[in-house]
Amino acid sequence: LKATNSQTTVFLNYHVSPGGCLTGRIRVPGDKSISHRAIMLGSLASGTTHIDGFLEGEDALATLQALRAMGVGIDGPQNGRVRIEGVGLKGLKPAHDSLDCGNSGTSIRLLAGLLSGQDFDSELTGDASLLRRPMNRVVLPLRSMGADIHAAEGGLPPLKIHGGRPLRGIDYVMPVASAQVKSALLLAGLFARGTTCVVEPAPTRDHTERMLHAFGCSVQRNGNRICITGNQELQATSINVPADISSAAFFMVGASIAPDSDLVLEAVGVNPTRTGVLDILRLMGAHIELHNERLLGDEPVADIRVTHAPLHGIRIPTELVPLAIDEFPILCIAAANAVGETLLTGAQELRVKESDRIQAMADGLIALGIKAQTMPDGIRIAGGAYGSGEIDSQRDHRIAMAFAMAGLRAAGPIHISNCDNVATSFPGFDALSQACGLPLAVERRG
Ligand code: S3P
Repeated sequence: LKATNSQTTVFLNYHVSPGGCLTGRIRVPGDKSISHRAIMLGSLASGTTHIDGFLEGEDALATLQALRAMGVGIDGPQNGRVRIEGVGLKGLKPAHDSLDCGNSGTSIRLLAGLLSGQDFDSELTGDASLLRRPMNRVVLPLRSMGADIHAAEGGLPPLKIHGGRPLRGIDYVMPVASAQVKSALLLAGLFARGTTCVVEPAPTRDHTERMLHAFGCSVQRNGNRICITGNQELQATSINVPADISSAAFFMVGASIAPDSDLVLEAVGVNPTRTGVLDILRLMGAHIELHNERLLGDEPVADIRVTHAPLHGIRIPTELVPLAIDEFPILCIAAANAVGETLLTGAQELRVKESDRIQAMADGLIALGIKAQTMPDGIRIAGGAYGSGEIDSQRDHRIAMAFAMAGLRAAGPIHISNCDNVATSFPGFDALSQACGLPLAVERRG
C-alpha cells in the first residue's frame, strides 16, 4: 500500500496550456466520504463486507490503514474492490503506533468518535496541514459524552484518547454545520449508554446515517435532529460507492466554461445533501442534465451531462453553502469565467479546510489578473478575461485541480506548484482530464 501523505516525497507541478474543451464519457473515482464510512462501518460489523468502487486515494487509504492497524482483516483495494472481515462492535485491538490520518480531516474526526468508545488508548495524528485544523469541534462534545480525549495546544492534533471510559448519550446542538462532527458523535453513540442526538444548524451530508441503515442499524431523523441508540449490532453488507460529485465538479465547471464542450460523467452520487454545486451552477446559467437517475444501494446516482454555456455572476444563496462546501475552489473558477460579479458569504468554514481556501483562491485568481476581494466569510469575484500565471496550490488538492481547469479559458499557460496532494481525493486526475481534452502536462520531481 502507498504511504500516507505525510511520508510522500514526490513533488508534482501542473502546466496547463491555454484552450481546449472537454468531451466524451468518463467516470471519476469513488466518493471519498462514502469510502471512509464503508471502511469504518464494515470493520465494526459482524461478517464480511464487500465494497465496490472504493476510492483508492490517500485519504480513504489512511482510514483503511488505521483500521488494519487495529487488527481488522482488510483485502484490497484492487480495482476499487475491498473485502473487510468485520470484527464486531467490540472487536478492535490497540494499534502499536499512533494512527496517521495524513491529510484527511474525515479520518481524524470520525475516528476520534469511534475510538472514544474503545477500551484501549489511541493517538491520532496527520500531516502538516491536518496539524493546523481545529479539533475542539469533536473533542468538546465527545468529552461531554464521557470520553477522555485531548487535543494539543490550541485544540489542534495530535489527539490522545484514553480508552475504557464509559460513554453516555448526549443531546448536542452543533455550532457549525459539519457532517464530520455529526458523524463522529453518531459513531461514538454506537458505544454509548442511552441515546445520542445531534441537531444540525443546516443540512449536511447524510452518508453516515444512510450507511448505518444499510448495516442494519436504526438511526432516527426528526427534522434537523438525528438520534442513535447505543449497542446496536451492525450486520455486514455490500456497498457500491458512487462516483464522487466533488471530483465530478471540476469537470462540470471545465465543460461549462470551455466552448464546444459536451461531457458525460457516469454514475455520480447525487444525494441531495451533496448537490449544492448543481444548484449553484444552474443559477449561473450552466447546462446540466441528469440522466438515468437510480439508486446504488442507499445512495442516489445519475449520469450527468454538461455542455458549454455562458455563465453569469450570482449571489450564492447561503443555504446552499453546506451542500457545496468542498466545491467552492472550482466554483470560484466558474465565477471568474462568468459575466458580472459573484458573491459568496456564510462560508467561513472554507478558512479551515486543507488550506485557507478563501485566501488561496483569491491569491491565485489575482495572480491570473482576476479581481477578487476576500471577506472573513467569503469572497467577491468579478468575472473577466485572464492570462497566464504561477499558482501555489498550498498543497491543497482542490485548489490544484480548480486552477488546472482554469487553463481552459486562460490567454496563456498556467503553472501550478505542489500538486502531489491531488492523490488524496482524485488519483488519476491528470490522465483522466487529459483523456477528455484538458491540455495538462505533469512535471514530477524528487
Ligand atoms: C466531510 C464533511 C465536510 C467536507 C469533507 C468531508 C465528510 O467537512 O468538507 O471534505 O465526509 O463528512 P465538515 O464536516 O468539516 O464540513
